Amino acid sequence: MSFSRNLIYYKTDAEVELMRHSATLVSATLAEVAKILKPGITTLFIDKLCNEFVRDHKAVPSFYNYQGTYPFNICASVNDVVVHGFPNQVALKEGDVISIDLGVILNGWHGDHAYTFVLGDVTPDILNLVRITKESLYKGIEKAIVNNRIGDIAFAIQEHTEKKNGYGVVRELVGHGLGKNLHEDPQVPNYGSRGTGPKMKENLTLAIEPMINLGTKEVYTDTDGWTVRTKDGKPSVHFEHNVCVKKNKAQILSNYSLIETAEKANPYLNSSYY
Ligand code: MF3
Ligand code: CO
Repeated sequence: MSFSRNLIYYKTDAEVELMRHSATLVSATLAEVAKILKPGITTLFIDKLCNEFVRDHKAVPSFYNYQGTYPFNICASVNDVVVHGFPNQVALKEGDVISIDLGVILNGWHGDHAYTFVLGDVTPDILNLVRITKESLYKGIEKAIVNNRIGDIAFAIQEHTEKKNGYGVVRELVGHGLGKNLHEDPQVPNYGSRGTGPKMKENLTLAIEPMINLGTKEVYTDTDGWTVRTKDGKPSVHFEHNVCVKKNKAQILSNYSLIETAEKANPYLNSSYY
């Protein structure tokens, strides 16, 4: 990802509310995905569904044509794909681990988040990876408070995933500031040292997004120029929330409960890990 400005934009309370609407639309769209996921459907079908749902709600998908090259509305990253997977015609199957990442622009403000779904039965080590990655996201969010530094978020995520559980924390891709642009300063890595990096002030809005591998942290990019995969072919999990920095407790602008309600009601999805 390239960050053209070395400048942090703090939002007004009214702008944060607009960003909550954008983030909630992403959550509502991912909830629609959670309703229809089952073996046999394709990620290209999910892409179409997301595009239509977003446009029906007076917004536009923001990944399409990003940097003049991203050719789809969503990223659909299955199994060994870490992020930026292209939707395709391959039927999803039992045992797949599927991250759906969606960005929208609503009223000029970006929402951008991701959720990983498990289709049916998988081995306990994969379910554990999903659980720990989701937990690490919340541990990072706990640190997104005024006067903490970005490195405090990064450290909390790395501690829970790499140090405590031996997973691979992807280094090449990071979270980011979010606002009128999809990618704003500061970068938010998922690894680092406490007390380092920019100090956070009230109403900094961030996309925090751990990308965690079952095996090696090493990744490579496919010849399509986008698809990022694990070098050892083992699965990778990605969760992302949009948050606003506050004094005592970060506000989460996205809404996983919409997604989780649909996930739990879908018999094809495995939510037994939480
Ligand atoms: N959530 C990802 C990110 O923030 C997705 C970007 S896909 C892209 O980087 F196509 F827009 F790059
Ligand atoms: Co993002």
